[in-house]
Amino acid sequence: MNTTEHERNPALEHRLFELIRNDEEIIELIKLANEHLGVIGFTEHGIRHASIVARWSGSILSTLGYPDEEVELARVAGFLHDIGNFICRTDHGQTGASILYVMLKRFPFTTRQLGKVLSAVGNHEEQYGQCFNETCAAVVLADKADVHRSRVRAYDPANHDIHDDVNYAVTRSDLIVDPDLREIRLDLDIDGETASMMDFFEIFMSRMVMCKSSAAYLGCTFKISCNGTVVS
Ligand SMILES: [Fe+2]
Ligand SMILES: [Fe+2]
Repeated sequence: MNTTEHERNPALEHRLFELIRNDEEIIELIKLANEHLGVIGFTEHGIRHASIVARWSGSILSTLGYPDEEVELARVAGFLHDIGNFICRTDHGQTGASILYVMLKRFPFTTRQLGKVLSAVGNHEEQYGQCFNETCAAVVLADKADVHRSRVRAYDPANHDIHDDVNYAVTRSDLIVDPDLREIRLDLDIDGETASMMDFFEIFMSRMVMCKSSAAYLGCTFKISCNGTVVS
């Protein structure tokens, strides 16, 4: 069955994420992407990151009351968003979207569903990403919120790598969605001995601006809370 033959089937839609996250080819390529980024010194981008972004992407939309189909597409896009890193780091969002157009033909997406997943993968990088729809918005928010010490592969403060310092300083990160206040808040606990708030903003400012515009697309404000102090 391909995307053009597929008749919309709600029962199958619910299984899309399960099919994707258990697919051997996809798992292998996400693992390879993580290995390749490890070679060039990047933080963890493997199954752990993919799973967290998938879960948070889905929960953002479900908490805000979006239909199950949109929640499922956000989960799928969240899981797949960094797969293009197995080929190259630069423009990995657009590379990933291009290869997924072919890879995902094996799965029962409608053409429109496939297009939304690819748009979210292709627009998640802060250098040029644009928020086209709720799938894009959810994946950006979930992806940029995954800052945590567990993403640092082997922390060595002597390296003075600001990305490692900032990630390692974050001992807790949560994404809180309040549907009544229409507010999305990134809650962080940061160890000030390892990195300062200035370090955080130095490398995360463009990501936080992207989160702000993504939250606005969903009709929400975006806030950050660091060690209990809210920055809005
Ligand atoms: Fe990425
Ligand atoms: Fe990512």
